[in-house]
Amino acid sequence: MRTQEDTSGVSRRSFLQAVGVGSSAGVMFATMGAIGMAPTAAAQPRAESWVGPRGSDFNLTGRSAKKVVIVGAGPAGLASAYELQKAGYQVTVLEARHRPGGRTLTIRDGDSETDIDGVTQTARFADGTYFNSGAGRIAQWMVTMDYLRELGVPYEVFTNANADAYLYNERSGATPGNPIRYRTAKADVFGYTSELLAHATDQGALDQKLTAADKQNLRDFLQRWGSLKADGTYQGGDNRGFSVYPSAWNEHGTPLPGPGTVSEVLASKVGNYFPFEINWEQSMLMFQPKGGMDTTYQYFVRAIGTQNVLFNSPVTAVENTTSGVKVTYSAPNGKARQIEADFAIVAAPAGVMRRWATNWGPGIDAALGEFAIGSPAGKMGLQYKSRFWEDDHRIFGGITETDMDLAHIWYPSYGYGERKGLITGYYNTGNSARAYADMTPKQREARAVEQGVKIHGEKYRTELEASFSVAWHKVPYIEGAWAYPNTESAGFKQLQQGAGNVYFAGDWMSEVSAWQHGAFWSARYAVQALHQRVMTT
Ligand code: FAD
Ligand code: ALA
Repeated sequence: MRTQEDTSGVSRRSFLQAVGVGSSAGVMFATMGAIGMAPTAAAQPRAESWVGPRGSDFNLTGRSAKKVVIVGAGPAGLASAYELQKAGYQVTVLEARHRPGGRTLTIRDGDSETDIDGVTQTARFADGTYFNSGAGRIAQWMVTMDYLRELGVPYEVFTNANADAYLYNERSGATPGNPIRYRTAKADVFGYTSELLAHATDQGALDQKLTAADKQNLRDFLQRWGSLKADGTYQGGDNRGFSVYPSAWNEHGTPLPGPGTVSEVLASKVGNYFPFEINWEQSMLMFQPKGGMDTTYQYFVRAIGTQNVLFNSPVTAVENTTSGVKVTYSAPNGKARQIEADFAIVAAPAGVMRRWATNWGPGIDAALGEFAIGSPAGKMGLQYKSRFWEDDHRIFGGITETDMDLAHIWYPSYGYGERKGLITGYYNTGNSARAYADMTPKQREARAVEQGVKIHGEKYRTELEASFSVAWHKVPYIEGAWAYPNTESAGFKQLQQGAGNVYFAGDWMSEVSAWQHGAFWSARYAVQALHQRVMTT
């Protein structure tokens, strides 16, 4: 991830102060836009800046379209095939698994998955219930949204933040049955930090930094932000929420007990969760395809042509030849097959390629070796016979954060008004993901439920009907949740050039790994490089 750096030698803030003198707010804002501190229409990165290959590129130059084999029917592979085919390239996609979408795997009733240890689970979910075991959310600026719209995939809001979801930090003193709502936690953290900052300002601690006018503006802001009383103290208030909400006929509502002391609030560490909401990748609004994330890839396959996407066809070799490439794969009947083509785009996770026969050269091999181990992540879907989180807890979507090893609990952003529903009972990474992965599916369920009960009460156990879990480093042909490249390394730059007639795509070839957005842009760049070569030779 890169942030825009100031390279001028003049700090952006002092430059603004200079132009701010005697300028209108409009001039100031436009200037901020010009130097990258405020949004302007022109400053928005726009997907429209991408111009894919077009059929006319061939018609107008007398060139003929080429044949390309694409390895992997995940987002990067399918987007590569789709963009090439739009211009007339002849594409064949080879996919090792029985379905498209790669790590966007959606589990529905009847779906079976067998992990690399040979453990099989079969989903027993209600009609219409699904579990996004991999990708689940899309930020509105992501190119993923453009593909949903271009392909006509129906989508809806994914609730990534909810003021009424819970925070539960057991290691910082929270006790079973006593989670705190986001809105309460925010009121207390913002309240006390505002009180402290206002106090520091009044004591002159910021006199070297701020003018008298700055200090007054800051006090005004803090008073609103922290709901401070006239004397500058935080004493709680409506923003914390109520145990009985106001209604009518003099029912003013029953405020929640509290707040605790400033020390208690700081010790609870709940404020550490707040930056997530303004994270550039995670802030609302966010979206999801209706019916499950991998719906998108069913649309891609239809657009590319089902006859051009071969499932159950794991590739075992990708080699450059004197005239192009030769790709060897195992056909569904187990027989080895070969396809000769002009080019290949390899869009499988980098870590799994080390088992293939290739002749890409030591530089490429070394660069790919950096990705040998994908990091672990795990998720579990818990299907319940009632939507008690909505009925009893009044939580309609969003995420509860914990410091337990289940890490995150997601409430569904679909199926409102239905009787049943599905919670993501854990979503963890690192050592927690490894620990869950090493359990049987039933043990994973028991552990997730035991922890969830502490937040939601016994219904979390008694209403449970079915579960399904995925440990990503144990999924065949994927073997890891994601890998982050060093995009400045010499090896990465070499991968961008490709190896002979082989190009690489995948989220691991992007600046935004662990997102479909990164996979899509990597596909576009690979397609662009390949097409440029075709058009100049
Ligand atoms: P993949 O999706 O991994 O696809 C690669 C394909 O190559 C697979 O289908 C695989 O079977 C195939 N393959 C492998 N070996 C062979 C072989 N030998 N022969 C033929 N085919 C082969 N993204 C988001 O946008 N939003 C999210 O909320 C989000 N959350 C995520 C949560 C989790 C737990 C995980 C694991 C991922 C998440 N992602 C999310 C990331 C997103 O799923 C990936 O960025 C995206 O799927 C990467 O696409 P890809 O095509 O590069 O790779
Ligand atoms: N992109 C992944 C997520 O949002 C990591 O969960």
